[in-house]
Amino acid sequence: MSYCSKVVSCGAYLPQRVMTNVEMSSMVETDDSWIEKRTGIKQRHIAAEGEFTSDLGFAAAKSALVAASLRPDSIDLIVCATSTPDETFPATATRIQHRLGIRGGAAFDVQAVCSGFIYALSVADNFVRCGQAKRVLVVAAETFSRILDWSDRSTCVLFGDGAGAVVLESIASNGADKQRGVLSTHIYSDGDHHDSLYVDGGPGSTRTTGFLRMRGREVFKHAVTRMAEAIDTALEANALTPGDIDWMVPHQANIRIIEAMAKRLNLSMDQVVVTIDKHANTSAASIPLALYSGVSDGRIKEGDVLLLEAMGGGFTWGSTLLRW
Ligand code: UT7
Repeated sequence: MSYCSKVVSCGAYLPQRVMTNVEMSSMVETDDSWIEKRTGIKQRHIAAEGEFTSDLGFAAAKSALVAASLRPDSIDLIVCATSTPDETFPATATRIQHRLGIRGGAAFDVQAVCSGFIYALSVADNFVRCGQAKRVLVVAAETFSRILDWSDRSTCVLFGDGAGAVVLESIASNGADKQRGVLSTHIYSDGDHHDSLYVDGGPGSTRTTGFLRMRGREVFKHAVTRMAEAIDTALEANALTPGDIDWMVPHQANIRIIEAMAKRLNLSMDQVVVTIDKHANTSAASIPLALYSGVSDGRIKEGDVLLLEAMGGGFTWGSTLLRW
């Protein structure tokens, strides 16, 4: 018997507090029009004091479970993508497991920064495919506001906090052409580019958390080429063409990157789920937040082919094709 994973539901959570570009311009030398024109961002959500990544992840996970009418104890694996864990250890996934009241199975974190959701989905899908998990909660949760240098206008205007989650379920693979589920995941990394995007601290080096540092132009250039390669590989692996894609659900780092990807695939922007204006870049959480947005407002329908793509610090990058 061979298995594959079907995505049965998704959920999301955003902290209550909204910070607009105008508010940003009272903190650093920037303005609403620069931020919107260069990035597409209009506002971001910021976690409250005492509100942690696991709180965001728990709320998103709960909303995904409720959407699927599933009991938490039916989950046998939790994979949480985050670069902003509550603590150095234990894994934020175990905090979420505890909050959900799950006592069995396994829970661990995956750290691939903005590509984290694609990485976590890839890990979860492979657990399902080899028969080691039956129902997996894939959570991506971030509080990037806590690792931003709020005096650095080149980075602090770009990020926000949030969480998204999906439930994957093992189904018998019948080899049918139109089977719903994860069609493929492709993940990559290249450690040569550490200095282009990193956090200048950590428990094993400075014993501090550190702040995010980025060479924006470098990252931009690589993002476009690397994600294009990962998309081509995904399409080729599934014998699909860009014309088969119903929706692109991209990482939300910059509207100009998203538009370049859509243009290359000849997709209209009406086929792209864009949330960057409202959420900014929520790192690993940005794809499941966008997915939730497209599903909850009825744009994404059963049977639609979805392309997910991301690129982040490391560098890491990757793509996923799935039939909703
Ligand atoms: O999620 C992980 C992956 N991350 C990404 O994919 C991010 C990729 N990079 C980007 O999205 C863009 O490179 C940024 C949005 C970060 C920057 O946009 P850019 O068009 O590449 O701007 P730049 O860094 O080349 O800066 C252009 C100008 C500079 O001024 P000068 O030197 O031309 O006088 C900056 O100092 O814009 C200035 N600038 C700002 N001005 C107002 C930089 N940040 C700001 C700001 N407000 N917040």
